[in-house]
Amino acid sequence: MSSEGEKFDTLLHETRRFSPPRAFREQATASSQEIYHKAAANPEEFWAEQARCLQWSNPFTKVLDWEPPHARWFYDGELNAATNTVDRHRQGATKNKAAIIWEAETGERTVLTYDMLGREVDRAAHMLTSLGVGAGDRVTIYLPMVPELVIAMLACAKIGAIHSIVFGGFSAKALAERINDADAHVVITADAGFRRGKVVPLKANTDQALTQCPRVKQVVVVERVGQVEGLTMHQGRDVWWHEMMDQAPATPFAAVPRNAEDVLFTLYTSGTTGKPKGIVHSTAGYLTGANTSCRLVFDLKPDDIYFCTADIGWITGHTYVVYGPLSCGATVVIYEGAPDWPERDRYWEIIERYGVTVFYTAPTSIRTFMKWGPELPSSHRLDSLRLLGTVGEPINPEAWMWYYQVIGQSRCPIVDTWWQTETGAAMISPLPGLTELKPGSAAVPVPGIFTDVVDAKGEPVGPGGGGYLVVTRPWPSMLRTIWGDDPRYRETYWDRFPGVYFTGDGARVDEDGYYWILGRVDDVINVSGHRIGTMEVESALVDDRRVAESAVIGRHHDVKGQAISAFVTLKEGVQGTSELAQDLKVHVAETIGAMARPEEIFFTAELPKTRSGKIMRRLLRDVAEGRALGDTSTLADPAVIESLKQQYEGQD
Ligand code: PRX
Repeated sequence: MSSEGEKFDTLLHETRRFSPPRAFREQATASSQEIYHKAAANPEEFWAEQARCLQWSNPFTKVLDWEPPHARWFYDGELNAATNTVDRHRQGATKNKAAIIWEAETGERTVLTYDMLGREVDRAAHMLTSLGVGAGDRVTIYLPMVPELVIAMLACAKIGAIHSIVFGGFSAKALAERINDADAHVVITADAGFRRGKVVPLKANTDQALTQCPRVKQVVVVERVGQVEGLTMHQGRDVWWHEMMDQAPATPFAAVPRNAEDVLFTLYTSGTTGKPKGIVHSTAGYLTGANTSCRLVFDLKPDDIYFCTADIGWITGHTYVVYGPLSCGATVVIYEGAPDWPERDRYWEIIERYGVTVFYTAPTSIRTFMKWGPELPSSHRLDSLRLLGTVGEPINPEAWMWYYQVIGQSRCPIVDTWWQTETGAAMISPLPGLTELKPGSAAVPVPGIFTDVVDAKGEPVGPGGGGYLVVTRPWPSMLRTIWGDDPRYRETYWDRFPGVYFTGDGARVDEDGYYWILGRVDDVINVSGHRIGTMEVESALVDDRRVAESAVIGRHHDVKGQAISAFVTLKEGVQGTSELAQDLKVHVAETIGAMARPEEIFFTAELPKTRSGKIMRRLLRDVAEGRALGDTSTLADPAVIESLKQQYEGQD
């Protein structure tokens, strides 16, 4: 057995188990195993029942049409996503309930009730219409975590326009690429954003991006910071959000009914090639996944105060800051800034201030909090919390235990939710009132989801074995395609194991059927829960005329999960100096975004390649993680990796 395998078996052997606390179990929405049985016996009926929790302007009669790899769910029904997230809560008891509690990094606080949010969305929908945006048009949104971001996305949904949100940490170049791929004609941005007290020049980035985007006609600018130095408004193209909103009618905007399968949004994510993929999500299926998982996995109830720390620019923010919790009529806390600003207890202060009951964050953050010490959370009252969640990367059992004991005070179940941009909603996760928890395992597929772990031939590996994580049946919130590139959709997700969705992750299933996610098996690196394609970083590196070739890998990092190590060969006569390494790091950050900045750049005369010329990244990972080299017999020149290893070790 491999040493990895032995380590894993020891881990399983030592794993403690935690049953859901009685108090939690007794009030949980999913409180009987029956829900799993029902969903397994008739998945389509199960999902139809969940979809009926949404409000339909024209109810569906058809549930699923599955022509692999294309699924259509609830496809003769009509509904609107803004109606479902906002307008249906503007009647009755929830009308004046807080929908969003927003806290700025700078300390300002704002509450938007469902009715107030609805009025803003209506105005923004009128505004976008006046700018010529109609159903099916793409709108790129590049904003910080401000209420206008939620308002803009829901206004798009109300019109039937497709939003394409680009995380505010992305560079001008990355933004341009995404605007052009989506063929968006309208961009919504801000003058700037705040991050750790610094001003992030979003408008300047947008201006720079737009030099490459000739088809953009209109830019709407939210004034977040004010008096931003050097800000220029381009006549005829740029308008202020607040001025346009003032001019827009204050009358209700009639939601545009959308077919269940109409596109709600696209969201770009990294793949194994340099070009990011525009993941396409449908309206009804996506909302069904978001809403169902909020009810069953997050156990959301009318009196919950829910806080998810993800940025809305990522899928977690789409599903679990906006569409999921608002579709349940919950109160959502949105925090604009960094967890350590101005002090390292900012999250705990927020939890105490608003009485947060459900808290959802990433393992990287948890490991960072661990480093900062238990005194910070312990100096705040966290007894309002009743449920904790984690997402984005595997959580190590130590971090899990810390989260459980220090933040949850051994009272709150933890839902470790495995999912992806492509899956739209949580796929493998405990149900908090039902599932026994094992620290480090995402537990079992949620009801209505069918997963497996298979070998290279697609055969199930069975208990104890490791292999590729796949999803064996279609599910409502699955991606529908890749924007403008259906062949790539087939090839990436469906060609490897026909009829079965390939996740790109490795996993093991234990004797109890619990899934242990091992991380990506493709050329994607997961840095602090952010997906970065090795190819994207490599092409940014070879942009520099001094670089001949590069190979990028993810190596283990105690806090970030993985860190980027770049191996670079330089052109004849170029010296690998620390200044050059610094230049290259800055260049990668400017080309993609700060999260893609390599942790270290290592200059090497040659890269280890097979006889057919393929770079052996596995061996580079061995070098970067200080392990004995694996099998080198297929290398064209085994001396290359040996000397690289010596050089690398010599450097420490
Ligand atoms: O490798 C898995 C990891 O994050 C990838 C998906 O990244 P992204 O599309 O950016 O979405 C992140 C948030 C849903 C997966 O392929 N991942 C996500 N959640 C977990 C995880 N790995 C282990 N455990 C998780 N709970």
